[in-house]
Amino acid sequence: MAQQTGKRSLFSHATVERNVSVLFVLSFLVVTVGGIVEIAPLFYLENTIEEVDGVRPYSPLELAGRNIYVREGCYVCHSQMVRPMRDEVERYGHYSLAAESMYDRPFQWGSKRTGPDLARVGNRYSDIWHVEHLIEPRSVVPESIMPSYAFLATTDLKFDDIAGHLRANKLLGVPYSDEMVAEARADLIAQAGGSDDPSGVQERYPKAQARDFDGDPSRITEMDALVAYLQMLGTLVDFTTYQPLAEGNLR
Ligand code: HEC
Repeated sequence: MAQQTGKRSLFSHATVERNVSVLFVLSFLVVTVGGIVEIAPLFYLENTIEEVDGVRPYSPLELAGRNIYVREGCYVCHSQMVRPMRDEVERYGHYSLAAESMYDRPFQWGSKRTGPDLARVGNRYSDIWHVEHLIEPRSVVPESIMPSYAFLATTDLKFDDIAGHLRANKLLGVPYSDEMVAEARADLIAQAGGSDDPSGVQERYPKAQARDFDGDPSRITEMDALVAYLQMLGTLVDFTTYQPLAEGNLR
C-alpha cells in the first residue's frame, strides 16, 4: 500500500499539477484539439444558416432606411432579436430566426434595450403613427424618453448612389442580381409611391410595401425610407406556415 502512494507515473495528477511545463504542454494540446474539433467542420459546411421561405434581400428603399437606422444609432437603444423565451415570444411574436438577419451587413441584433425590441415591429403600427412618433415620441407615448428625429421628415433622401449600396452588399454575398442593381434607383422611387405601378419592385422584392410612407407625396424624404424599413421588419416569413426543421428533416 505504502508503495502505491509513493508511485508517480508521468501523467498522475500530482505530476501534472506540480510541473509547469507538463501542465502547459497538456493544456495546449487540449485547447488545440478542442478548437479544431469545433472550428474545422465550419470550413466544410456550405451554409450554417437554415434557408427559410420568404427571406429576401432588402429592397433599395428599405436598404436606404436601414442605413438611416444605423447612421442615427437606433441600435444603441433597440435590439432586433426576439429570444426564444416565453416572455419575449408573448410580447414580440415568434422568436427571431437566423435566416431573418442573413442579409444584414452588419447585423442589428443589438445588446441594449432602452426601448423595445424592433425585430417584429413591421405592420404593428400605422405609417402615420411611426411618423408622429419619430417627429415627437411623446406625442403618442407621453412617458417616452426616446429622442425626437423630426429632421427626417424635412430631409430629402439622397439616393443617387443607391445602386452602389446594392453593389457593396452584393460584394459581401447578398444575392442582388444585375437587374436589381440596374433598377435600384427606379425601384426606390416606385416603392416610395412615385409610380402608379409598383409591380416591378414587388416582383423583384416579394411583399415589398409600396406607398408614400411619410404623408408627403411631393418628395422622398429620409422619413419615407426609415418608415418603409420599420414596416417590413419581421414580416417576410409567414409564421402560419413556417415549420422549423425537425431532426431527420435536414436538407
Ligand atoms: C435613447 C434611446 C432611444 C433611441 C436612440 C431610439 N429609441 Fe426608439 N424607443 C425608445 C424607447 C424608450 C421607446 C419606448 C417608448 C416609446 O414608444 O416611445 C422606443 C420606442 C420605439 C418604437 C416603438 C416600438 C414599439 O414596439 O412600441 C419604435 C418603432 C422606435 N422606438 C424606433 C426608433 C428608431 C427608428 C430610432 C432611431 C432613429 C430610435 N427608436 C432611437 C428609446 C430610443
